[in-house]
Amino acid sequence: MVYSSKILSLSQYPVGISGHHPSIIIRYNTPAENIFFGSRHTIAFTLKYPSLKLKTMKVAILLGSIRKGRQSHKIAHYLQNKLQEKGLTVDLIDLLENPLPMLEERVGMHPALPEEVQLLSNRLHAADALIFVTPEYHGSFSGVLKNTLDYFNSEFTKKPVGVVTVSAGKMGGINAANQLQQVILSIGAFALPTKLLVPEVYGAFNDSFELTSEYTIKSANKFIADYCWLAEAIYQKKHQLSSSL
Ligand SMILES: Cc1cc2nc3c(=O)[nH]c(=O)nc-3n(C[C@H](O)[C@H](O)[C@H](O)COP(=O)(O)O)c2cc1C
Repeated sequence: MVYSSKILSLSQYPVGISGHHPSIIIRYNTPAENIFFGSRHTIAFTLKYPSLKLKTMKVAILLGSIRKGRQSHKIAHYLQNKLQEKGLTVDLIDLLENPLPMLEERVGMHPALPEEVQLLSNRLHAADALIFVTPEYHGSFSGVLKNTLDYFNSEFTKKPVGVVTVSAGKMGGINAANQLQQVILSIGAFALPTKLLVPEVYGAFNDSFELTSEYTIKSANKFIADYCWLAEAIYQKKHQLSSSL
């Protein structure tokens, strides 16, 4: 349980008051039980508001590499394992296993939406937070990822998205990452400022797919910490809002 303490004036909040002076019991319009004690006017109290557990959050990792001999799937699986260790539910959407045709029309506008698009739409809708994993190809992110993103819209709205890019060279796909963050804004989602860049990917993992690059392990730890912070903040905000409607 996480609790926050606040000093509030009663007039600021839509509360009901029962009980008698000097103790006042306020029933606050949240799913949480809240009992406060104080004077009638300005009340100093501890707001008991249980933190919504990160564990109930669902994350979808969209893997945008389908190349023969690809490497980007390694970091996608690594992140899946790390997030699952934290207790999160993770859906790894591998576009190699879930290919979509080249876009002819979007969800909601297509006269005969392919079934695989609808299935992917459902999986994306089910996610509270997303991670996009892509290689850098010709100074940008992969075409297969862009084609997939273009099908959807409401599936991404107001969701946090972490960007993970992969390269064979030393730059870790920084161009792809910067461009993908811009696209994330265009799809109405929130791009996590911290990017996870995976340079020299061919030497970063051992034969058992374990991450051995100290540099990338450190980067991944920071990325995961920042990602969970943002994702949890947005998740809590949405659930507080829906519970007060
Ligand atoms: C078509 C193509 C274009 C590439 N362009 C770049 C590039 O612009 N910058 C870069 O750092 N690496 C580039 N690379 C190297 C990739 O980053 C490297 O192959 C990496 O492994 C790609 O991820 P993948 O194995 O999942 O496909 C390119 C590779 C391919 C196949």
